[in-house]
Amino acid sequence: MASQAQPDLHPSGPAHGARHVAIIMDGNGRWAKKRLLPRIAGHRAGVQAVRRVARAARELGLECLTLYAFSSENWKRPAHEVADLMALLRHFIQSDLDEFHANDVRLRVIGNYQVLDPSLVTLIEGAVSRTAGNSGPIVAIALNYGAQDELVRVAQALAQKAVDRVIAPDRIGIEDIDRALYTADLPPLDLLIRTSGEQRLSNFMLWQAAYAELYFTETLWPDFDETMLAQALDAFRLRDRRFGGL
Ligand code: FPP
Repeated sequence: MASQAQPDLHPSGPAHGARHVAIIMDGNGRWAKKRLLPRIAGHRAGVQAVRRVARAARELGLECLTLYAFSSENWKRPAHEVADLMALLRHFIQSDLDEFHANDVRLRVIGNYQVLDPSLVTLIEGAVSRTAGNSGPIVAIALNYGAQDELVRVAQALAQKAVDRVIAPDRIGIEDIDRALYTADLPPLDLLIRTSGEQRLSNFMLWQAAYAELYFTETLWPDFDETMLAQALDAFRLRDRRFGGL
């Protein structure tokens, strides 16, 4: 299905002013437990919430929505849960790619996804390249992502450039690090949301969050929806961002 240019709903930018929102989607397991259901039922309901917020991204005028789907530490979970999450991800791309494309969304992945099952890597890369020419919001899925791992990779890449004498060590600056991150071509992170009442970053976008506003909600991820995303953006609009200035 060919994507169609969609009307610009926010020609002079949305009132909330946020370009890039990231979400730590937490609480799927607790959502399932409260209902005496297996954890996979919570993850399945979590996918529905992913659909809701991905659909809302354009309406809300976001340029980029980044979703933490699988961390580099999530491999510690039981093998069957890891397999369930990978199967959900595979099914999600297969079932929703046409809709993403029709809605002009650009699908992206951040993290070391290349180590995943080769057929999943092929599926991901096909989805990313199919939607690359779209002009709507970016939906970036963080997969096998860990911020410390990301920063180690940046350090290695810059050290190699120094060894190759492409860059002098004492000339390495903030922009060099920005350019070497998975998020190099994404807008700066404005708002980081975490659901389920936990108040920590859990190795997510540590560098990018330097001046992001943080928003924590007790809502469990499967109960999160477009209205709650709009509420978070309302709260963001009222924040006084000084970036270290006055
Ligand atoms: C945290 O809940 C959630 C995850 C580790 C995975 C998030 C995955 C999804 C929302 C579904 C798959 C995503 C896509 C994009 C298809 P938890 O299991 O840690 O919950 P708990 O803390 O209550 O146990």
